[in-house]
Amino acid sequence: MTGPLAWWQKGIVYQIYPRSFQDTNRDGIGDLPGIQRRLDYLQSLHVEAIWLSPIYPSPMADFGYDVADYTGVDPIFGTMEDFDRLLAACHDRGLKLILDLVPNHTSDQHPWFLESRSSRDNPKRDWYIWRDPAPGSTPDNPIPPNNWLSFFGGPAWTYDEATGQFYLHQFLKEQPELNYRNPEVLAAMLDVMRFWLAKGVDGFRVDVIWLLMKDPEFRDEPPNPDWDGVDPHDSLRHIYTQNLPEVHDIIRQMRAVMDEFSQATGRERVMIGEIYLPIPELVTYYGKNLDECHLPFNFHLLDTPWEAQAVRRLADEYEAALPPGAWPNWVLGNHDRHRVASRLGQAQARVAQMLLLTLRGTPTCYYGDEIGMEDVPIPLKKMQDPRALNQPEIAHIVGRDPERTPMQWDDSPNAGFCDPDVEPWLPVAPDYRTRNVQVLSQDPTSMLSLFRALARLRQAEPALHGGRYRAVEAQEHPESVFAYLREGEGARFLVVLNFGGKSHTLNFGSVASSGRIEVATDMRHSGAVALDQLELQPNQGLLIRLGPA
Ligand code: GLC
Ligand code: CA
Repeated sequence: MTGPLAWWQKGIVYQIYPRSFQDTNRDGIGDLPGIQRRLDYLQSLHVEAIWLSPIYPSPMADFGYDVADYTGVDPIFGTMEDFDRLLAACHDRGLKLILDLVPNHTSDQHPWFLESRSSRDNPKRDWYIWRDPAPGSTPDNPIPPNNWLSFFGGPAWTYDEATGQFYLHQFLKEQPELNYRNPEVLAAMLDVMRFWLAKGVDGFRVDVIWLLMKDPEFRDEPPNPDWDGVDPHDSLRHIYTQNLPEVHDIIRQMRAVMDEFSQATGRERVMIGEIYLPIPELVTYYGKNLDECHLPFNFHLLDTPWEAQAVRRLADEYEAALPPGAWPNWVLGNHDRHRVASRLGQAQARVAQMLLLTLRGTPTCYYGDEIGMEDVPIPLKKMQDPRALNQPEIAHIVGRDPERTPMQWDDSPNAGFCDPDVEPWLPVAPDYRTRNVQVLSQDPTSMLSLFRALARLRQAEPALHGGRYRAVEAQEHPESVFAYLREGEGARFLVVLNFGGKSHTLNFGSVASSGRIEVATDMRHSGAVALDQLELQPNQGLLIRLGPA
């Protein structure tokens, strides 16, 4: 990388799920004024940018990922004035604001789809993906055009009786997919981007960007020989609905719009792509000339076995695969995946937090992970997530409500998320009296204090936010330890992470003779240490400042 780093390289991105952050108008659902009320808190986390999951008008079949109007604000979240105020308040504080762009599908209530489904010769018919029933169909028994499946259960096709065709939806039937082989569709979506960029938003996280193009021949997907038998969607290999080569051209055109605005205003806008693909394919989304996503989301920490050597191999593989000039990024959690504290346990969640905030590349933090929020088991009658409700047999595995529960601010009833006499849209976690921002802020050894210490140091130290990364071996290095250096602008840090429950005495004498612990994950260790006899506690991570090489 040459030249000074951009804000989206240096800083931490903080994901807010707006429904669950802060309610201000007593409907039990978080809103934009609620986010504005919590800006002091966000600043206290030393984050650079907030990314809001969708806030657009929506029937909320998939809680906003079913957009009915791309250039409005849903009344549940507030008004456009509330949005403008929030954006201005963020910018006043030097915080960036990133919106979620959902270009792959609209709501079935979007005027475009209402038109498209109204007749076969409507000018918007071809804005969506319509196909005739398969041969052998009868009027009483229309057969889907092929075997494509929805991520949320069942076929990816729904029959529309009025016009006698099926439309494609890889999510809910309420989320019909747009046809990016029709240039009018892309043109309309680029206008949506311009609308928000002109308002001053700092970027987009683009929903399911790797799904935007589908096979023009609509071939059947082949079976997946490695299927574990749990989620039916995994029973196929999605080679005709995902990661098609043509998608890159669409992404380049989106990126060009971002770049126009960056150049015209002198303020860098960032494009982050939601992409679940193996590393070799993932990195192609930077673009051949780095002209696609600034940050193709790297979700591999969500799935890699939580073992020191597996994580080390992942970091090394990813670093080696990055095209020249491409900027790395890391993610520990989001609104679709079980909480990191539940996946790994609280002790390892601290280690994971240190990893996230000290690896090279932009970290994205999911709201509540900084206080160690856990998945909350949701009883069937309180379940909200359509992915769970559509597939009751596997609801507890695929349901996403557990990781979307209200932010825990204090120990008052409803945890300060909404008034005590209001029912929150999802139950508040049972541990909110002890696990909340107010209590943990007063505890210098809490996860929150750890997060703040790491984020502060990361922000202050060029070696941590921009320096080189190199994995290191200690002598007789145990399997359960992952250690690496971060070096740059005259400073050097050694990160030592214990993924296991045993203590170790480690010899890093070949790296340096001594150093100073800047942050320990337990927040109980600090000061000078000898590196040829470094004591590492069970489940402990250490961030150590080294003298000059
Ligand atoms: C993305 C979102 C997820 C949503 C889906 C459909 O994966 O993160 O929450 O349900 O796309 O838009
Ligand atoms: Ca509200």
